[in-house]
Amino acid sequence: MQLRRMPLNVAVAGALTAALLVGTAPSSTATVQNTPAGKTLRQLAKPTGVRIGTAVDTSALANDATYRTLVAQQFNSVTPENVMKWEVVQPERSRYDFTEADKLVDFARANKQKVRGHTLVWHSQLPSWLNEGTWTKRQLRRILRQHIKTEVGHFRGRVWAWDVVNEAFNEDGTLRDTIFLRTLGPGYIADSFRWAHQADPKAILFYNDYNIEGRNAKSDAAYALIKELVADGVPIHGYGVQGHLSTQYDLPNDMQGNLHRFGKLGLRTAVTEADVRITLPVSPAERLAQSAGYSYMLQSCLLERSCISFTVWGFTDKYSWVPGVFPGEGSANIYTEEYEAKAAYHALRRDLAVAGGVRPRRR
Ligand code: G3I
Repeated sequence: MQLRRMPLNVAVAGALTAALLVGTAPSSTATVQNTPAGKTLRQLAKPTGVRIGTAVDTSALANDATYRTLVAQQFNSVTPENVMKWEVVQPERSRYDFTEADKLVDFARANKQKVRGHTLVWHSQLPSWLNEGTWTKRQLRRILRQHIKTEVGHFRGRVWAWDVVNEAFNEDGTLRDTIFLRTLGPGYIADSFRWAHQADPKAILFYNDYNIEGRNAKSDAAYALIKELVADGVPIHGYGVQGHLSTQYDLPNDMQGNLHRFGKLGLRTAVTEADVRITLPVSPAERLAQSAGYSYMLQSCLLERSCISFTVWGFTDKYSWVPGVFPGEGSANIYTEEYEAKAAYHALRRDLAVAGGVRPRRR
């Protein structure tokens, strides 16, 4: 299809941006209302067939009215930033707590949003009873199966897509040394997908990782493994690229081509955790580079028919994970801490508006 390799026409996009942005000097009130063109991100995303999502901090959702308004208004997909992770849902062995996650799922239903479940099998944010325990292969297998089946079963029919296995690879393409790999061997990955599928046969099951947006050793390794899993009939349905970029590095190499090769395996693809951090203080040039980074990722998704959602990892700097993990860096989201929309927000609107008229709908 001709669209595949064709970048969105920059001149057209630029003209459209200008049209969209007439009179939109960012202000805290302007951003809470619809922008002057009258459409929110989710409204612009609808004709593209790509869901536009955000990670949600559930304590901000409960306590910050502006945050809550924007989650509902701008996005048609949500991902719990933390409250579906193992340490939260199973803090003690066989004691499950879905209270916070249930609240988000209810919020999503009330606002006609899909839920991306995040994440079932990950080396991080594991409860200490699990991480510090000593387990035989048989015991850990049983624990993993019970965890996946209980969590996916609890949300059956209410979670659209799951990040089943998260961050299983090292940068060089070898498998990451985790409690799961060490104890169970590489077969834990296929087993995890099988158990998740048994618990909810309709959910779209993703492999999810960072630094696999473009072509490199890590995405090549993910491709080789996923190809094998598909050939073996393992129920894996999606390839999620997190999209944590920084303006100090190059953009991912051939992101659309990379998504496309997974699409050709029959998988859906998605950008699952987009943000573009900046070394502080922010200069105008970096603001532009940030907006180009967001735009590059969204355009790669819009150009690839297998891509079904584009999720930002939080939308406001007010609750960003970045400064805590990368000291001296920040401003990674599409709204400032004061909820002013940044150039990156407007770039996303422009891309959705342009693509809405040309992208064939998949579903
Ligand atoms: O659970 C404690 C809580 O009891 C305590 O009150 C609070 C006070 O600081 O800390 C809480 O834990 C924090 C948790 O977020 C919930 O707020 C952890 O210290 C903190 O490390 C944790 O950070 C999260 C991080 O994953 C952990 O690795 C970030 O919010 C979250 O954005 C981040 O998300 C990950 C994705 O899941 C996977 N991909 C990378 C991405 C960014 O690191």
